[in-house]
Amino acid sequence: MSSDYRESHLDKGSRYDDDISDGSFNSYMTVRERVLVPAIIRDLFPSSGPKYLDFACGTGRITSIVEPLARDSRGVDVSASMVAEAAKKCPRTRFVLRDITTQLLDETDFDLATAFRFFGNAQDDLRSAVFKAISRHLVVGGYFVFNNHRNHGSARAILQRITGRFEDHADLDLAKIRRLMAPAGFEIERTVGIGWWQLAHRWDTPGAYSSGLARFLEPISTLNAVAPYCPAYIVVARKVAEPTGA
Ligand SMILES: C[S@@+](CC[C@H](N)C(=O)[O-])C[C@H]1O[C@@H](n2cnc3c(N)ncnc32)[C@H](O)[C@@H]1O
Repeated sequence: MSSDYRESHLDKGSRYDDDISDGSFNSYMTVRERVLVPAIIRDLFPSSGPKYLDFACGTGRITSIVEPLARDSRGVDVSASMVAEAAKKCPRTRFVLRDITTQLLDETDFDLATAFRFFGNAQDDLRSAVFKAISRHLVVGGYFVFNNHRNHGSARAILQRITGRFEDHADLDLAKIRRLMAPAGFEIERTVGIGWWQLAHRWDTPGAYSSGLARFLEPISTLNAVAPYCPAYIVVARKVAEPTGA
């Protein structure tokens, strides 16, 4: 597999939605994101819909959630096969096939950008370039809502490392996100987690996710102090300055 994450999904469009619906934590994240993302957007934009850009939109999973809340909606990705699926789900969104780290869009006046299931996988130089590219597309004061779906700093990852059973090669935690985003002019306003109670591999089952206990425990994940220890969390960041450097 290429070490450049840009090439990771070029031919995955027809399989992607099924691949992430396997009943595991992947599916649970999707279910929770359908609840959390609209609530966050409504909270950020209570009176008027934002001009919205979904970066690395893929098959339009997040685009289709935010599109109804936006006054104008764009999706951008480098994979034609992924964007072909997205276009079927999002009639009000204009999709652009482009790597915005090398060529900006014509429009750079977005109020809101999202990027989901991207930063956890991408390599560091691409992560940095994307933070800057997103910032260049946002107005000052605009919001960037994204997730880290492979949290190196989760309670479960820490427990696994202590017991020598660490299986994932994730390397992104909140401290690293802050370091990578600072030159792009972003500051974190809050974090909203998913699945803090996923502390052991044996609880990663469809039954656990649909249980009453999960429903009872899950709201704790959304606390700002708890989110950085969840296996996945959403970051709400605000553009406070223009990016520095190239
Ligand atoms: C795991 S998918 C996530 C799709 C969607 N955001 C979601 O949450 O389901 C990652 C996407 O990032 C895209 N990607 C990778 N590098 C990119 C880049 N430089 N510019 C735009 N898209 C990129 C891939 O083509 C792929 O569609």
